[in-house]
Amino acid sequence: MSVNSLAVGSFYVSRSRSRRGVPPIRMAVRSNIVSVAPFLTKLQRDSATPLPVLRYVADAMTTDMRAGLATDGGSDLKMILSYVDCLPSGNEKGLFYALDLGGTNFRVLRVQLGGKQERVIATEFEQVSIPQELMFGTSEELFDFIASGLANFAKKEGGKFHLPHGRIREIGFTFSFPVKQTSIDSGILIKWTKGFAVSGSAGRDVVACLNEAMERQGLDMRVSALVNDTVGTLAGARYWDDDVMVAVILGTGTNACYVERIDAIPKLRGPESFSGRTIVNTEWGAFSNGIPLTEYDRDMDAASINPGEQIFEKTISGMYLGEIARRVLLKMAEVGDIFGKSVPEKLSTPSALRTPDLCAMQQDNSDDLQSVGSILYNVVGAESSLSARKIVVEASDAIVKRGGHLAGAGIVGILQKMEEDSSGLIFGKRTVVAMDGGLYEHYPQYRRYLKEAVTELLGLEISKNIVIEHSKDGSGIGAALLAATNSKYDHDY
Ligand code: BGC
Repeated sequence: MSVNSLAVGSFYVSRSRSRRGVPPIRMAVRSNIVSVAPFLTKLQRDSATPLPVLRYVADAMTTDMRAGLATDGGSDLKMILSYVDCLPSGNEKGLFYALDLGGTNFRVLRVQLGGKQERVIATEFEQVSIPQELMFGTSEELFDFIASGLANFAKKEGGKFHLPHGRIREIGFTFSFPVKQTSIDSGILIKWTKGFAVSGSAGRDVVACLNEAMERQGLDMRVSALVNDTVGTLAGARYWDDDVMVAVILGTGTNACYVERIDAIPKLRGPESFSGRTIVNTEWGAFSNGIPLTEYDRDMDAASINPGEQIFEKTISGMYLGEIARRVLLKMAEVGDIFGKSVPEKLSTPSALRTPDLCAMQQDNSDDLQSVGSILYNVVGAESSLSARKIVVEASDAIVKRGGHLAGAGIVGILQKMEEDSSGLIFGKRTVVAMDGGLYEHYPQYRRYLKEAVTELLGLEISKNIVIEHSKDGSGIGAALLAATNSKYDHDY
C-alpha cells in the first residue's frame, strides 16, 4: 500500500480512517521533534500576555505618560509636544506638498485643497525606496537624496495643481523618528530608530538639514510644518472625522499620538495655545514597563544597533517579529533538530525571515501546511516535516499574539489616561483611533489579537464606543493639511 509520507520519521500516525480504495493519510512524526516541544512551551510561557499582564501594561502606559508630561526625561515615554495648535477643520485651501521620511521608503505628495465644499480636489504622489547604504551613510547624503526626489516630483506639477502667483510652495515634512520639536517647523533629532544609523544628524535641526539640501538642489520650497507620522495620521483622519482622538502606527516601527489638553501638560512652558489643546507624540516605542520578554528578545536586543532602547517597538512592530521567530527557529534547529540533522545555513542570517513571511505562513489553512513548507524552504532553505511546520506556525502565533495584545494594551493605556482626565470624553461616546501601518493592515491575526486585548481590557460595553479605523496613508495628506493650517501666508481658516 502506498503511504502518503509527509515526513521522514521513525513512526507513523494515522490521521484519517481508511476507506475502501482510499489510502489512509499518514503523518510522520520524527521522534526528535518531541525534543522541540519544550522550547515551544517555554516560548509560549515567557511571551504569555494573560489579562493581568495586559492590565499592568495598560496602567503602566498611563503612569509613564503622566511622568513624561510632567518633566522631560520623566519616563521612558518622551511625550513630545507637536506644536500643533489647530487641527484641520476642512476649510483649508490651496496647493501643498508633503514629504514623508520614516522607513524603507520615502514619499512625496502634492494636494490641491478646495475648502469645505470641494475638500481634496486632487492628489498625486510618488514613492521611492531608500537605498540601504543611505541608511548608514551621512546626513548630507540622505537629505540630498530626498531633496532631489522632491525636486524631480515638483518639476512634474501641472493639471489641477495651482500655486497663486508670488508664493513659495509649502511642505508638511513627516519625519518619523524621535525629534525634540522646538516649534511647528523645527526640531532636533534625538536618535535614529528602525535600523537607521545616519551619521552627522543627531542633535541637529532636521528642517535645517532639509533646507540646506534643497538649497543645494536649487529648490525653493519652505517647510511650514514638521510632523511625526502619527501626528500626520491624526491630522489626516481628523479632517474627515471629528471623533478621532488618537493615532497609532503599526508598521516597520510603532508609535502613538493623541489630543491632549494644554493644562494637562505640566512641562509645557511658553506661549499658551490658542485652542487649549495640542497633539502629543508619545514615542511609545521606547516604553518598557512590564513587557514579558523571552531569551530571543534579549538576544535580538543585544545584537541590535540600539541595545536597551525601543523595547516596546522591538516586541510589537513589523521590523522585529520575523527576526524573533528566526531566532526561535534557529535555536530549535540547533538544539532540537526541528529541520533535520543539519541547521539550514540561511537560518543563521539575521533578518532572513521577515514578518510578511510569518504572516503568509499563518494564512495557510491546508492540512499539510504546504505553503508553510514552501516558505520555509524558499526563505531559509529548510526542509520541514508536517510536525515541524505546525511548530513553526505555533511559535509564530505566540510572537504575534504577544505583539497584538501589547499594542492593544498600549492603546487602552492612552485612552484611559484621557478618560481619567475628562470623565466621559472617551468612553462615554464614539472615539476613533486612526491606525496606519503595514503590520496592522496586512496581518489579520495581529489585528484580531489587538482588538481582543482592547475588548478584554475595556469590557464589551465600553469597547463598542472605541472604533479602530484603518486610515491608509493618511499621514501624507495630514502633513499637507498641517502645512496649510500653519501656512506663512494669510489665510482665514
Ligand atoms: C519612531 C517614531 C515613529 C514610529 C512609526 C518609531 O521608530 O521612533 O517616531 O512614529 O517609528 O513610524
